[in-house]
Amino acid sequence: MLRLAVLVSGGGTNLQAIMDAIRSGKISGAEIITVISNNEGAYALKRAQEYGCEALLISPKDYPSREDFNESLLQALKERKIDLVVLAGYLVVVPPCVIREFENRIINIHPSLIPSFCGTGCYGLHVHEMALARGVKISGATVHFVDEGTDTGPIIMQKAVAVRQGDSPKTLQRRIMEEAEWIILPETISLIAQGKVHVEGRSVLIDED
Ligand code: GRF
Repeated sequence: MLRLAVLVSGGGTNLQAIMDAIRSGKISGAEIITVISNNEGAYALKRAQEYGCEALLISPKDYPSREDFNESLLQALKERKIDLVVLAGYLVVVPPCVIREFENRIINIHPSLIPSFCGTGCYGLHVHEMALARGVKISGATVHFVDEGTDTGPIIMQKAVAVRQGDSPKTLQRRIMEEAEWIILPETISLIAQGKVHVEGRSVLIDED
């Protein structure tokens, strides 16, 4: 069983998609050991409680220094023998010590087709505002491994979504979640659980059936 930690800051619809996929058997061979948030008020923590897994608050503001927070997050992951860390709307910079310890074992979902509309400052609704301002006809979502850069790690899976005339950042965000994010994040976890995902340099190779 692949032991997952899902890190969240907000509503947790992607977390919900993972939980649903485990429950329905779309993901087999993986279990959520813990859901960790930096935000006490995150609805995602409630989802974790309802699901019946651990819901853990580890917030930088509860520690005297950033180093102490970093160490606490790392220890929490190591103590629970986590195999894969899933960033599902996690708005905290992942500490370098965690990235080193979990090389190619941290994945993130980003709401655009990387390398478009990504990097520092590109999160949440901003991503969709930028896509609409640029006038793209297609956007989408990307699941990638996390390295020490911002949205620079090897790309595992992408799914395109049409931009419609009259879209607002919110309508585009919702369509990208429904048509891409909630599909490719569970699919990626399932593939990793099956041992089918291999990193070669900046590329990811996926075993075909
Ligand atoms: C999603 O759009 C995801 O792509 C981004 O943050 C958002 C999280 O939404 N990284 P939710 O908390 O899963 O509903």
